[in-house]
Amino acid sequence: MTITIRAAAKINLHLAVGAARADGFHPLQTVYQAISLYDDLDLDHVTTGEVTLTCAGADHVALAELPAGPDNLAVRAVESIRAAHGGGGTSMRLHKNIPIAGGMAGGSADAAAALLGFDRLHGLDLSDEELLRLAAELGSDIPFALIGGTALGTGRGEIVEPLTDPGAWAWVVVPPATGGLSTPQVYRHFDRLHPDAPADPAAPDDLIAALGTGDPAELARHLRNDLQDAAVDLRPELGVLLRTGEEAGALRGLVSGSGPSCVFLCADADAARAVAAELGARYDLALVAHGPVAGAHRVTAPQDV
Ligand code: C5P
Repeated sequence: MTITIRAAAKINLHLAVGAARADGFHPLQTVYQAISLYDDLDLDHVTTGEVTLTCAGADHVALAELPAGPDNLAVRAVESIRAAHGGGGTSMRLHKNIPIAGGMAGGSADAAAALLGFDRLHGLDLSDEELLRLAAELGSDIPFALIGGTALGTGRGEIVEPLTDPGAWAWVVVPPATGGLSTPQVYRHFDRLHPDAPADPAAPDDLIAALGTGDPAELARHLRNDLQDAAVDLRPELGVLLRTGEEAGALRGLVSGSGPSCVFLCADADAARAVAAELGARYDLALVAHGPVAGAHRVTAPQDV
């Protein structure tokens, strides 16, 4: 019996960052959106009691950068849910499409898929609240990877609340061509660039109002990423990429989270295909995506197993 869980990449439409807290994390006011770039995780019972993981990936995924063994977030997720609630040996096969260390929460998607898949495989039947609690312990972006859609994130990003998002937003994603960026490194650089960051980051009221209009030009005006200047300072070529995408017709280019993936909001799906064609001719890869999409969910029907 194999269970397959699909989990989406996230981008941040609004990422306001405050001064580091005593625990080292930064307080956030963020609006997440899940977009149509997915990792799939297959889970099976194994009688040995072990937890194992094998990985495969699309050509643009730098699998060599993926932490293997116990450091992989999917393995850590299974170890944590198993320690708290039982369940047996599990083998996992991960099929990656989300860039690694790309600022799109690919590792968090895999952890969310592992929590949900382990729960379903072993019939634990945990509540959504318990899955979200385990997710928050494992990483700031993992609760959002469970719920998907478009959501407000506060705290260090782990407190999530779904938002109404009637839009069908067209995005182009340019994954990193020269390796990922470390999230802690980008936050440390943010601290150097913004020693006067406020204790309370700015709320996304204008962005949420723009979502409600369904108008991409209006949304483009309100996109915000406080980590962008830190990421561009560490990787100056990102500034060129953002300008190139806007010159190619995107309404707005934005570094995704801590980068270095960049995303481009376009007027509609046709415009996104045109921008992707132009960026794809100059960069290794430009992917068309849309959002919002669902959070981690099962893609094998029960009668298949
Ligand atoms: O929560 P997560 O494990 O994904 O965070 C990875 C790293 O990113 C943290 O160790 C921290 O350096 C940084 N971070 C932060 N503030 C946040 C989220 C992450 O400083 N709100």
